[in-house]
This record gives sequence, structure tokens and C-alpha cells, in this order.
Amino acid sequence: MSETVRKLLSEEEIDKKIAEMAAQISRDYQDEQVHLLCILKGSVFFTCELAKRLTIPVSIDFMSVSSYGMDAKSSGVIKIIKDLDEEIEGKNVLVVEDIIDSGRTLHYLLGYLNSKNPKTLKLCTLLDKPDQRVAKVDVDYTGFCIPDEFVVGYGLDYAQRYRNLPYIGVLDLG
Ligand code: IMP
Ligand code: MG
Repeated sequence: MSETVRKLLSEEEIDKKIAEMAAQISRDYQDEQVHLLCILKGSVFFTCELAKRLTIPVSIDFMSVSSYGMDAKSSGVIKIIKDLDEEIEGKNVLVVEDIIDSGRTLHYLLGYLNSKNPKTLKLCTLLDKPDQRVAKVDVDYTGFCIPDEFVVGYGLDYAQRYRNLPYIGVLDLG
């Protein structure tokens, strides 16, 4: 079995898109502080690049939820592995996600976060695979809509590998 990665989005395309997203988010929040909630581990690269380009006051927290195990298929089981460090009540929370697929993870997570009374709750994702949606999720900022293929790189993994690729590619399991 041979694994190959076919480039889908170059580092330059991703950089340009994140800069556009950051400009839009900075405009939308104006002088308000935004509390970025990075969903580990896949969103780490995206969160850093986005945060560096925001021109509004920013704070950052991290959560980890299980969705996929070692497989390329959603288990549908969502579990909080790492919870919030700081309270979000009264804050402008912006969830930063790497990719939305079935929507199960975010559907669950947004419900959980909403119950903690943030001032506002928005969602930002680098990638969206809308064809695979089974749970309703309102996305406020989307980088790229991509076809229903399994992608790796720029934080996204297959069995914990490929996160460090500077671009996003489609994984072919051969
Ligand atoms: P959902 O609950 O099906 O929307 O799954 C979302 C999570 O599954 C993402 O945060 C990723 O961790 C993972 N995921 C979904 N699609 C892919 C993919 O194409 N490559 C890598 N991880 C993926
Ligand atoms: Mg994720």
C-alpha cells in the first residue's frame, strides 16, 4: 500500500486566504476583543496564522474534542478531551476549526459553548466539505469549500502524520 499526497491548495493560496479572512474578521469585530478558541490539534497552524494578522485585541484558548480516531471516517462519537481553561461568559468567542465535514463535532461543540453564555459565538473554518454535512452548522467565515476527499497538511492529519506539510493535499491511500 502506497500513500501519496496530491497538492490541492498551495501555501501561497492559503496565506492569501487567511489574510483576507483576518481583514474581514478585524472589520467585523471593530475594536472589540475576540477570544479565539482553537480546536486542537488540526487548527493550530490556522489559528496562529489567523491570529498574527488580526488587528483587534485577541485572547486565545484551546479545546480538544475527539471525532476521528485512527481512521479516515467519522465515528460520530464526540468527547471533550481538553476543556476550556478560561470562562467564556460575556466574551466574543470565535471558534477556529480546520475543517468541517459531517458537522457533528461543531454542532455538539457550539451547543456546549452556547450554554456558557458568551456575548457572541461565531465560527471560522479554513476548509468546508459541505457535501458530507449531516448536522446543521452555521459557519460565519469559510476559507475554502473543497470536494469530498480526505485532505492532509496545514495541521490536518492522517493517523497523526502530515500535519507539518505547509500546503493542503488530497491523501491517496493507493
Ligand atoms: P465532523 O464532525 O465530521 O465535521 O469532523 C470534523 C473533524 O474531523 C475535523 O475537525 C477534523 O479533525 C476531522 N476531519 C474531517 N475531514 C477531514 C479530512 O479530510 N482530513 C483530516 N481530518 C478531517
Ligand atoms: Mg479538528
